[in-house]
Amino acid sequence: MHIHQFDAVVVGAGGAGMMAALYASRGARTAVISKLYPTRSHTGTAQGGIGASLGNLEEDRWEWHAFDTVKGGDYLSDQNAAKVLAQEAIEAVIELEWMGLPFDRNDDGTISQRRFGGHTNNETKKPVRRACHSADRTGHMILQTLYQNCIKENVNFFDEFHAVDLIMNGDRPAGVVAVSIDTGELHIFHAKAITFATGGWGRMWSTTSNAHTLTGDGPAMFWRNGLPLQDMEFFQFHPTGLYPLGVLITEGVRGEGGVLINDRGERFMERYAPTIKDLASRDVVSRAIYLEVREKRGIKGKEYVYMDVRPETVNRYLAEAGESRRIDADYVRAKLPDIMDFCKIYAGVDPVESPIPIAPTAHYAMGGIPTNIHAQVIRDGKETVIPGLYAAGEVACVSVHGANRLGTNSLTDLIVFGRKAGQQMADYCRHADFVPLPDNPAGAIEAELERIRSSKGKQRPYDIRKKLRSEMMDKVGVFRQEDMMAEALETIRQLKEDYRNDLAVDDQGRRFNTDLLEAWELGCLLDIAEVTAACALERKESRGAHSREDYPKRDDVNYLAHTMVYPEGDGLRIAYDRPVDLSLGHEPKERVY
Ligand code: FUM
Repeated sequence: MHIHQFDAVVVGAGGAGMMAALYASRGARTAVISKLYPTRSHTGTAQGGIGASLGNLEEDRWEWHAFDTVKGGDYLSDQNAAKVLAQEAIEAVIELEWMGLPFDRNDDGTISQRRFGGHTNNETKKPVRRACHSADRTGHMILQTLYQNCIKENVNFFDEFHAVDLIMNGDRPAGVVAVSIDTGELHIFHAKAITFATGGWGRMWSTTSNAHTLTGDGPAMFWRNGLPLQDMEFFQFHPTGLYPLGVLITEGVRGEGGVLINDRGERFMERYAPTIKDLASRDVVSRAIYLEVREKRGIKGKEYVYMDVRPETVNRYLAEAGESRRIDADYVRAKLPDIMDFCKIYAGVDPVESPIPIAPTAHYAMGGIPTNIHAQVIRDGKETVIPGLYAAGEVACVSVHGANRLGTNSLTDLIVFGRKAGQQMADYCRHADFVPLPDNPAGAIEAELERIRSSKGKQRPYDIRKKLRSEMMDKVGVFRQEDMMAEALETIRQLKEDYRNDLAVDDQGRRFNTDLLEAWELGCLLDIAEVTAACALERKESRGAHSREDYPKRDDVNYLAHTMVYPEGDGLRIAYDRPVDLSLGHEPKERVY
């Protein structure tokens, strides 16, 4: 067993993890553990932009950004968190620019900004240009920039080390256990301060924009250590996944003027969101697409619609809206180069010649590990902090995104709250001591990995995963109903039994045993799917991304509260015991777009 000691350890090398590591490293010896090479982290797939009210092209204010975030979140967003996000976004983007991030530029040299769903001028209610971007590779550029800066600050990277357990000593965090993927050996990272930045769990659904690695490892490790999770029923479907694969086609396409079209050639969002149309919030647009398909207005009667960014279409609608701007094919190619490639490679479509086939795709977890606005993990609805333990980025539930995240706010979130986690770790490490490691700190996980490695049942992880993903897609997806979710929960529990008692793993070796690690990831997905379905079943209202056909209205009397879900014995307990912060004074209203 290898034992390492660092003041601060970060699990995950996406934008939040590397931002946390960068700031922690200024006051503490810092290590990052990542199951991927850092620049392959999923932040790299974030395309369209990072939201900040710089106001480079038109008037904008942080107050508008904060309100849009709260409204987009269907009033479940904590308003103190939305304020921090919107205020600090401005400085955070400038900081990234100074670190070397190559943003697109306006003619006057300022950072270019584009429109994105739900981001508005609060006075005119029209879309505002708030998304700062680097073509359609904004996340990729953030990763490269942060990685280079972390290397400059001597952050220690443990690449291709797969974290498999959080070590707690009583109620205090003491470290992390990771498998070196190369050798299969276990490593213990003893640390004073630990940040989890492990990303989301979109692989739970069969159509997803998420990479293979997004399997909910972070929340599963917390859950198995008796810690609660928050707002797990809220999972966002991005409206525009490339049909049928689900690969993300950025909202930036609509931000540049692209429109959604049904089989009759109608710009159908005019009916669902008359003011903001195609740039309504994602939950609204995803539901609209499903409803069009249900009404047999999908393209050729199938389960997709078109997104049309052909210059002649865009220019027609720009003219209709009274805008003087016009675009041409070169503009589309320059602003959306990756989208051009993805569409050609995966769908055989050139977006300047033909419309793009799209359908909603599972994209982003609004829930996760509960934290406060300082990125400190809390253990209950009374804001009790776990000293030395932090979470940031998609795995954390601050909760700034409430019931539905606005596009571009994920990159903002991971920079703003990743930085907070790093600052907190550096401060904490200055005065805190190491919590001693408990006896045999890797014993339980070692036994579990051995159980999986030597399992000789009949069910392959692939088959269990496939059943899980289609069950979640069909029954805990965009539209939800009591009986369907109850069925899903029963199936998940059966799959958990199969996983425990009838699993078959072929590779019994140690080196690069991805068979073993993928099977372990499946266990995480199953645990988190059970929590997700149970929380969705319990919340009897519709809010943001949680849309129940049997309870179609939002119910602020009974459900204007965060869902806290606690592990209890072999089961779970759900409580609405964490109030929503309303400190900006935005009382819940009906959302009109
Ligand atoms: O549409 C997009 O470019 C995705 C961005 C996001 O999820 O924030």
